[in-house]
Amino acid sequence: MHVLVTGGAGYIGSHTVLLLLEEGHTVSVLDNFSNSSPESIRRVEKISGQSVATYKLDLLDRERLIDLFGQLRPDAVIHFAGLKAVGESVAEPLRYYRNNVAGTLNLLDGMMSTNCKKLVFSSSATVYGDSNKLPLSETTERSATNPYGRTKLHIEEMLEELGISDPDWSIANLRYFNPVGAHESGLIGEDPQGIPNNLMPYVAQVAIGKREQVNVFGADYATSDGTGVRDYIHVLDLAAGHLAALEYLSIQRGVNAWNLGTGHGTSVLEVIEAFSRVSGQEVAYQVVERRPGDVAECYANPEKAMLDLGWKAERGLEQMVEDMWRWQVKNPDGFLN
Ligand code: NAD
Ligand code: UD1
Repeated sequence: MHVLVTGGAGYIGSHTVLLLLEEGHTVSVLDNFSNSSPESIRRVEKISGQSVATYKLDLLDRERLIDLFGQLRPDAVIHFAGLKAVGESVAEPLRYYRNNVAGTLNLLDGMMSTNCKKLVFSSSATVYGDSNKLPLSETTERSATNPYGRTKLHIEEMLEELGISDPDWSIANLRYFNPVGAHESGLIGEDPQGIPNNLMPYVAQVAIGKREQVNVFGADYATSDGTGVRDYIHVLDLAAGHLAALEYLSIQRGVNAWNLGTGHGTSVLEVIEAFSRVSGQEVAYQVVERRPGDVAECYANPEKAMLDLGWKAERGLEQMVEDMWRWQVKNPDGFLN
């Protein structure tokens, strides 16, 4: 299958591109590199021994996008391109709606122009808002607590309406839990710009000595040790979920949502402990105020993905941390190195 991957130079995109190549698919990447480096694609080429046609293009450039579809005529699209920082989305909501929602609208116009009607979309567990009905299943009521989350919700709804209007569409809304880890080569991984917002990359930077200590956002939650609990999932398991969804879309029409999580919750202190153990470095931390908007616990019921797609996460916390640590040690300055 010829798959066009938007945002293919990013963290999850690059790992998925690699897996697609390894499974024999033809891959084209579209990215504006607003949050990534072309170096990630060069590394994917190095690991796979294959070249990847890469197009520097912004989804907001509708005309060039439609031209590109005419030129490539892909069979399916995996759509990772989007802005993802919650705090930034509160400060700049219009930029988020424009980039994520309007960008997706343009993408759909491009797809329609060549009758390409198979789409895998990067949604997020954020569409469950602050629901406390755990574990979260696909039927849990959706809501949004910030503009970033609302862009994901709007896009899911838009895709559902599109599927109703034209039953020829095959669409997968994949709701990711907390992606972490890296490819075992240590050549590709997450390369956050500036101070990481998310826990794992922050802990990795403390372990390597780039930051002094982890700020633990609250230790008074009603959880096993008082700290926040999340469903961390290895990025390669996540990537495999996209291939399983693509296979499903090649035989089934309609719009579906699937949780991609492990079903297991891990606390902040458990993450810090695992990182200290694997890296052999003491990871210092201090407990500070809760982060506004955080929920105590969030983990998936991943059964639907198993039933429909035959997919489940295989890798545990130890491997997530080991792979993340290898990437961190080999690339202390990310792709700049
Ligand atoms: P990332 O920032 O590493 O990758 C996104 C890529 O999209 C980047 O390469 C960026 O340059 C590109 N991009 C952004 N806007 C674009 C535009 N207008 N035109 C072309 N390219 C554009 O992020 P990621 O962690 O790989 O996430 C991929 C997707 O998964 C995002 O949509 C994100 O919202 C979603 N998601 C991520 C997480 C997570 O924790 N990483 C969790 C849930 C959902
Ligand atoms: C964040 C995003 C969410 C997104 C998800 C997956 C916010 C408010 N939410 O949520 O929209 O879908 O990532 O990418 O940004 N923690 C610390 N210290 C830190 C960082 C985090 O204690 O320096 C704690 C948090 O309070 C939380 C856990 O670690 O309990 C995980 O945090 P994080 O990695 O940011 O993920 P989410 O909170 O799930």
